[in-house]
Amino acid sequence: MEFLNVKNIIAKRQSLFAQQMEIGATIEQEKIWKLLELGNYAPSHRRTQPWRFSVFEKEAKNDFFETLASIYKSTTSKELFEEKKEQKILNKSKNVAVVIAICMKRCDKGSVPVFEEQWAVACAVQNILLGMKSLNIIGYWSTPKMAFSAEMKDYLNLENEDQCMGFLQLGIPKEGLPEIPKLENGPIEDKVTWI
Ligand SMILES: Cc1cc2nc3c(=O)[nH]c(=O)nc-3n(C[C@H](O)[C@H](O)[C@H](O)COP(=O)(O)O)c2cc1C
Repeated sequence: MEFLNVKNIIAKRQSLFAQQMEIGATIEQEKIWKLLELGNYAPSHRRTQPWRFSVFEKEAKNDFFETLASIYKSTTSKELFEEKKEQKILNKSKNVAVVIAICMKRCDKGSVPVFEEQWAVACAVQNILLGMKSLNIIGYWSTPKMAFSAEMKDYLNLENEDQCMGFLQLGIPKEGLPEIPKLENGPIEDKVTWI
């Protein structure tokens, strides 16, 4: 295995957003399964494999964004509610082809703390993010506060101790989308204490 190949895949991963996605595009189910399979290679303490995914496409995806907008409305105070923001949520349905709700299934309550289960799910999400470019899929992990609401938990049929950890919003790059410079993280040397 070549280190440079691994580095390239990791270094070229990039979050791209709804406005960069082709309106009305779809993604083949086969590709979504390929991504989900990558997620399933993630590590987990005691091999609890707590990642769960709900895939929304076509009409279900429209329903998802309508539900997200309605949760925004019902959980936001009158003073803070913005119609513009509600509309922005609804409009995403045009560009985003597939939404994958990222969920954590609380499996081994006795021995694995809940945060380890969340970390394992995050590892699965990163695996998915790393696979997207090679399938010509763009997107990002979104975590609006509605993701963590009781209403969303109901919508996703989650049990009490399970959690929604946000959504993968996926689409196809707009035709002629120019190369978007990747946001560079600061040097690793600044984040390491070598003792
Ligand atoms: C746990 C997590 C939550 C995120 N939530 C959001 C979000 O709610 N909205 C958003 O625009 N981006 C979100 N992002 C994506 C970040 O904006 C993105 O990773 C960051 O800008 C760095 O860009 P890069 O992914 O291209 O390196 C999230 C990323 C992570 C890891």
